Amino acid sequence: MQLDQLSPRTLRDPHGYSGKWHFYPEDVLPMWVADMDFPISPAITQAIMERLKERVGYPQTKGDRQLLELIVQQQSRHGLEGLTPENLLLTTSVVPAIYASVLALSSPGDEVITQVPVYHPFLNVLAEHHRIARHNPLLPTPSGWEIDFEQLKHLVTPRTRLLMLCNPQNPTGRVFRRDELEQLADFALRHRLWVMSDELWADLIYQGQHIPIASLGPEIAQRTVTLTGPCKTYNTAGLGGGVAISHNPQILAAMAQVSKGLGGHPNVLSMAAWRAALEHAQDWLEEVRAYLKGNRDFITAFMQQHLPQVGYRPPQGTYLAWLDFRGAPFAQEIHKVMLERAKVGLNEGRMFGPQYQGWLRLNFATSRKLVQEALERIAGVMQAAD
Ligand SMILES: Cc1ncc(COP(=O)(O)O)c(C=O)c1O
Repeated sequence: MQLDQLSPRTLRDPHGYSGKWHFYPEDVLPMWVADMDFPISPAITQAIMERLKERVGYPQTKGDRQLLELIVQQQSRHGLEGLTPENLLLTTSVVPAIYASVLALSSPGDEVITQVPVYHPFLNVLAEHHRIARHNPLLPTPSGWEIDFEQLKHLVTPRTRLLMLCNPQNPTGRVFRRDELEQLADFALRHRLWVMSDELWADLIYQGQHIPIASLGPEIAQRTVTLTGPCKTYNTAGLGGGVAISHNPQILAAMAQVSKGLGGHPNVLSMAAWRAALEHAQDWLEEVRAYLKGNRDFITAFMQQHLPQVGYRPPQGTYLAWLDFRGAPFAQEIHKVMLERAKVGLNEGRMFGPQYQGWLRLNFATSRKLVQEALERIAGVMQAAD
């Protein structure tokens, strides 16, 4: 695959299909919404074509059996054992599963704990559905982001019902260690919390190992719903597809109940794509992961050399860099400044928690040349301001 040969001219398709490439004006390099600029695996394209030729009528309501079996095997590779297709509930994508988890596992007025900064739908669903968000800010330490367990102890009240975990973590790229997950699981069990664990990024890890929190023991498995899907790993966001996984059938039944009539039926092309990805796209994935790791290392070196004033901790997973511009003279409007002066489109920090003004998220799933160009444009603006 020619991962190095991407050009903005072809990425900005003439039809305006790409949300990422058509949101900002043409002279802006888009490094924001989380999809990759790389072509998908040919195995996926082929599977979609075959499915189109074969049959696109209503699928079985639970979804394609072979896909469910492949998801069970994928989870087993991560150490989440003892699942059968009955433990899976397919969803149209992962965000609807986040919403269904919150609606099923808490009530209006309940308190919900989540580490911040975090993927914005975690916060949106709580605000939109009148749950009370209790933020547990990740602590910046010299070795990386750490969970503040001391603060967590003081956050919990008798009204706390749910812990929302993002692992690997968007936007910091943290991949939580076993000892951290064990502490979180103990905490959830001690306070009788439900756990929603969004593990969508589990296969894009450069350092450490992905450990599903539900794999830590039967008790925590009974209180957890794990969410995942194909879109981050295989770059198929526009096709949709997600799954809620739980050893506890009551959790899945409650999620099915709150989504009744809203979720639609599983999409046949999305299922064909997901199945082909799990069966035939492993070489593609290895190549992409190695390239992304190269991008991450390139960013780490660039930041040290040219942008030492910007806070940055190399992500252990994901293709996101979480950048701290609070020391910049224009930190209050850093997103606008980078958009207008550097012509780089990034995600604004406040999306991931109101306290993250002055931070930006950069998506580095593109060619190294474009990553370098974006960083050089950012460095140019920072130098001009010094
Ligand atoms: C942690 C996390 N969950 C869910 C999603 C979105 O998933 P989907 O597109 O399948 O709804 C994203 C997208 O970036 C994400 O980072």
